[in-house]
Amino acid sequence: MSPETLAAQALGEVDPLSGGLTPVINPSTNYEQQPDGSYWQDRVYTRADNPTYEHAERLLAALEGPGSACACALFASGMAAATAVFQSLLPGDHVLVSRVLYWGVRKWLAEFALTWGLDVEFTDTADLDVVASAIRPGRTRLLWAETPANPMWEITDLAALCDLAHSAGVRVAADNTVATPVLTRPLELGADLVVHSATKYLNGHSDVLAGAVLTARPDPFWERIRSWRRNAGAVPGPFEAWLLQRGMRTLFLRVHRASDSALAIATHFEGHPALKAVLYPGLASHPAYQIAARQMNGGFGGMLSIRLAGGPGDASAVLAAVRVFRRATSLGGVESLIEHRRSMEGPSSPVPGDLLRLSVGIEAPGDLIADLEAALDVVRGHTAPAARGPAPGEEAAPRWT
Ligand SMILES: Cc1ncc(COP(=O)(O)O)c(C=O)c1O
Repeated sequence: MSPETLAAQALGEVDPLSGGLTPVINPSTNYEQQPDGSYWQDRVYTRADNPTYEHAERLLAALEGPGSACACALFASGMAAATAVFQSLLPGDHVLVSRVLYWGVRKWLAEFALTWGLDVEFTDTADLDVVASAIRPGRTRLLWAETPANPMWEITDLAALCDLAHSAGVRVAADNTVATPVLTRPLELGADLVVHSATKYLNGHSDVLAGAVLTARPDPFWERIRSWRRNAGAVPGPFEAWLLQRGMRTLFLRVHRASDSALAIATHFEGHPALKAVLYPGLASHPAYQIAARQMNGGFGGMLSIRLAGGPGDASAVLAAVRVFRRATSLGGVESLIEHRRSMEGPSSPVPGDLLRLSVGIEAPGDLIADLEAALDVVRGHTAPAARGPAPGEEAAPRWT
């Protein structure tokens, strides 16, 4: 069966006790030991495993690596998943990480590397020559790439990156949160590990915090990641895992709809007089459009950014003027979101102050286009803004989202 069908039917399994088509939630934290010391299914305690998260894990593994030896482990959040991978490395290991990537991972690495002794180097994973010269043979243990990368939506050629890394014996981890397995399957392109913030598209309803790591094959490094999860207790609750499998049942519909609408919005607003740039990998003007078209199948994702020609003040005015886009952080939900990344990340953010990040949801695309059109009219001086939010950059501290 195709991944789309497996997702719609949540693997097509039936509850053996009731015949129910909907998987049951198993909230038990512990499992009964038999008089002879054995356990019913070798389960002892839910910090190690639980049938409800194993069901969501098997479904996600079927989407990311259909027909392969791929395995999945759910985590309590995307950050718990990402940090489990880095914490499974050893002090002294050299790690190459995308220069443009989700802020929380970059900030955590910058601080964690000091205490753990990891040698973390940020590099331009979109430029293979730069990556080739940054690899230190025998010392580089992991290459971490996010594509499309937050919030500039740069594209890394995963197949070429994996070839390069593997020729030097380096493992590749891809953060596939934004593309999702609907559009890109990094394991098929050669990646060794895939990481997700399942909080985003996989769940898709802005009501679950969860993460996942997948491996192309179970190996000793995978065992270290699993054992980190167990020992740290970085597991989701069974109810979150159950909600996640429910969200994944509509993943293909949601991601295709968001991708189609994002492309329509990007195309409509490219060249708008109030904008300096529209950043979206589905535009032919994107520097890596050809790579994105090869690597992303059936769409370019629901995330894009706009840069205001009038600078940060105009970004603030547009943010205050939208009526359909919701002013909120995060991404990948059914509702469209708009945020000023720089003020969300704090004063040390490298994101330009004139940038607004859009997460396109599943609303009528015409409503979204009309909303942005009206908000951009405000900065063209056609109408006065009804209310003004804080000027970008006014926020003193990062908000950690
Ligand atoms: C690309 C990406 N990776 C990882 C994370 C972290 O995920 P979580 O918020 O579930 O911890 C995020 C969160 O925004 C993200 O956008």
